[in-house]
Amino acid sequence: MTRLGEAALGIALLVGIFQFGSTIRFEVKDDSSKISCILADLSINFTVDYKRGDKQPKAEFQLPNNAVSDKSSSCGKNGSLPVLVIAFGPGHSLSVQFNKSDSGYQVDVLTFRYNLSDATLFPESIDNDTKVVSSNKSEITAKTNQFYQCSSPHLIVMENVNATFYDVKLQAYLTANNYSTNASICKEDSPPTSAPTTAPTTTPAPSNNTTPEIGTYNVSEKSGYCILSKMGLRLNVTYKNKDEKDAFYLFNIDPKSVNTTGKCLNTSISMTLVSNQAHIQFDFVLNTTEGKFYLSHVHVNTTVPEAKEPNFDIDSGSVSFLKTTEHKSYKCNAKQTLQITDKLSIYTYSLQVQAFDIEGNKFGPAVECAADENGMLVPIIVGAALAGLVLIVLIAYLIGRKRSHAGYQTI
Ligand SMILES: *[C@@H]1O[C@H](CO)[C@@H](O)[C@H](O)[C@H]1NC(C)=O
Ligand SMILES: *[C@@H]1O[C@H](CO)[C@@H](O)[C@H](O)[C@H]1NC(C)=O
Ligand SMILES: *[C@@H]1O[C@H](CO)[C@@H](O)[C@H](O)[C@H]1NC(C)=O
Ligand SMILES: *[C@@H]1O[C@H](CO)[C@@H](O)[C@H](O)[C@H]1NC(C)=O
Ligand SMILES: *[C@@H]1O[C@H](CO)[C@@H](O)[C@H](O)[C@H]1NC(C)=O
Ligand SMILES: *[C@@H]1O[C@H](CO)[C@@H](O)[C@H](O)[C@H]1NC(C)=O
Ligand SMILES: *[C@@H]1O[C@H](CO)[C@@H](O)[C@H](O)[C@H]1NC(C)=O
Ligand SMILES: *[C@@H]1O[C@H](CO)[C@@H](O)[C@H](O)[C@H]1NC(C)=O
Repeated sequence: MTRLGEAALGIALLVGIFQFGSTIRFEVKDDSSKISCILADLSINFTVDYKRGDKQPKAEFQLPNNAVSDKSSSCGKNGSLPVLVIAFGPGHSLSVQFNKSDSGYQVDVLTFRYNLSDATLFPESIDNDTKVVSSNKSEITAKTNQFYQCSSPHLIVMENVNATFYDVKLQAYLTANNYSTNASICKEDSPPTSAPTTAPTTTPAPSNNTTPEIGTYNVSEKSGYCILSKMGLRLNVTYKNKDEKDAFYLFNIDPKSVNTTGKCLNTSISMTLVSNQAHIQFDFVLNTTEGKFYLSHVHVNTTVPEAKEPNFDIDSGSVSFLKTTEHKSYKCNAKQTLQITDKLSIYTYSLQVQAFDIEGNKFGPAVECAADENGMLVPIIVGAALAGLVLIVLIAYLIGRKRSHAGYQTI
């Protein structure tokens, strides 16, 4: 019952968030003429890393409905470039600057200013200044007299900020008051079969492109195991290829090739999985006042042959994942994402882990992750509905039997 209550609350909160953003229309006009030179329909999801106490959380928000085209927007006179400046909240802005190329036009520079004093978007921020980040690799391009269209998510990476554009329609260098009739469709929207010659941005590592094999990784000392774990591991590394384009390298860890080493201390454990694919170090910490253990630090060394700089040495800094009460194990059958940095995600599959005091060298009672519990909700509802149905049929049968008995008696 409480779980259903929580689910209902969750849905209510989600509805609240969904009202926040949708596709918003922006328009830039020259003062002299009445004709729009830039039109844009945009939806953007932002993720911003900022400092908050000893943690580095992410702020996630959408471009709000009350965002407007700022008066510093311009059609580009006297040699300046056309720019759409979108303003929202207390001093946040996104400026989209266009330029012409041989065959069309593109977004040249995207600049995002965000005001860390805004406690709504950046609660408990340590800094209170306005940061400016930018990217000149937006890859938003269109042919002359066409509009750019992209319904799929299109990620633009800036320092500490990821902006995901989606449901986008935009055009610059307009001459009429409306979009042109022809579209330049982004590559994310084009079906993959139609572009067999373009280089894929995702390079599957040799021989594995599916759910990883489940491995068992344990560390023991004289007194027994200090960590037991069972999981499938898949890594996603974001890298720059030789053409300076963002690409993703996805690969599974093959448990058969892994050598597990580690160290057990009273309140900290280090476990390293060594294979020719990667060195992955997982550090666990025990907080004795809370009586909980958690994954506190991750360090990964790997190589991506296709990358411009193939050697990756990635450090999570301090994190707090998989927090669990001592003597219990954390369990998550569903795919789970551990966001290590903006360059690395680790996906776990069929995970079970327990660290520190392990009784009888086997897992203690399992604490299931939220994803697994939500997965259970549907069977519970279906089960309850079926039970109800059986009850109704039974009552109907009993009433029916009583009636027919009565019927026989009158004959
Ligand atoms: C930043 O936000 C604070 C708090 O909302 C506000 O007082 C301040 O004027 C903002 N700064 C700018 C440059 O808009
Ligand atoms: C911003 O932080 C600085 C130093 O941390 C402080 O002196 C200043 O008063 C703060 N400004 C606001 C508006 O909170
Ligand atoms: C834009 O590109 C130039 C080189 O082409 C580079 O020097 C500059 O730092 C880039 N600016 C941004 C904001 O990425
Ligand atoms: C943008 O954020 C909203 C709300 O968090 C989410 O529902 C939606 O799936 C996100 N869209 C993309 C493309 O990331
Ligand atoms: C602008 O063009 C769109 C289609 O691209 C059309 O649905 C809309 O009615 C047009 N608006 C005006 C004012 O002509
Ligand atoms: C890999 O990571 C990138 C960046 O976080 C993300 O955009 C992409 O969807 C991920 N790929 C897969 C297959 O999960
Ligand atoms: C670790 O725990 C053992 C047993 O509880 C204790 O004897 C030992 O002193 C502890 N070591 C440290 C460094 O706290
Ligand atoms: C342990 O947890 C408590 C309560 O959450 C917290 O105040 C304390 O800072 C934590 N200690 C360590 C070493 O993380």
